[in-house]
Amino acid sequence: MRIDIVTIFPEFFDVLDISLLGKARQTGLIDLGVHNLRDATTDRHRTVDDTPYGGGAGMVMKPEPWGQTLDSILDEKKNADAGPLVIFPSPAGEVFTQAMARELVDEEHLVFGCGRYEGIDQRVFDHTAIRARVRLVSLGDYVLNGGEVAVMAMIEAIGRLIPGVVGNPHSLVEESHEDGLLEAPSYTKPSTWRGLDVPPILLSGNHGAIAAWRREQQLERTRRVRPDLLDRAANEGESPSARP
Ligand code: ADE
Repeated sequence: MRIDIVTIFPEFFDVLDISLLGKARQTGLIDLGVHNLRDATTDRHRTVDDTPYGGGAGMVMKPEPWGQTLDSILDEKKNADAGPLVIFPSPAGEVFTQAMARELVDEEHLVFGCGRYEGIDQRVFDHTAIRARVRLVSLGDYVLNGGEVAVMAMIEAIGRLIPGVVGNPHSLVEESHEDGLLEAPSYTKPSTWRGLDVPPILLSGNHGAIAAWRREQQLERTRRVRPDLLDRAANEGESPSARP
């Protein structure tokens, strides 16, 4: 997968050199380009923002550096539906979920545009939509200082779904959200630690009983912490508890 990131803080993404995603880059599973928006400025101060038309607080990112940087990334494709998908992280976007990560891992080329300040001039989105598919995506219902942290989270969630990035593919299946439920608690040795015992069922060797226990734990935890996930599954006509 090719990933391009446009940002005024390229160093934010240095951490993509390490851990599983760093390895995925070394082995060619992920091909990453990080572009400094300020490289497309022409003034001495490398200015990327200006005051908003119509007044209001804060600064808005100017369209010209965005246009020039995106020109260098996006091919002049006739068919915008076939090219890269451009994602602008924004609290005004659709909420990022595991289902969206699963959808995006099938893309060949993702471009992330990190806004700062009070946002990006609307014409950047409108012009980009002429030549590519564009999505505004929010990490959640809270406001970050900019898109960088949101993009890091999305790249990690998407990148680990690329076949070969996570060593044991079974671990992807067993984790929170993959089956619409939160994951069951995990334990390892020793079986007693500071007076706390591992649930005896996990030491029983009875795989059927263990699977049933884990399922019950998942349901109980989801009911208690995230009942909205059960509601969502019910609305989609799917009961998580009825799934295998
Ligand atoms: N930029 C600022 N807040 C954000 C959020 N919640 N999600 C994505 N990008 C953002």
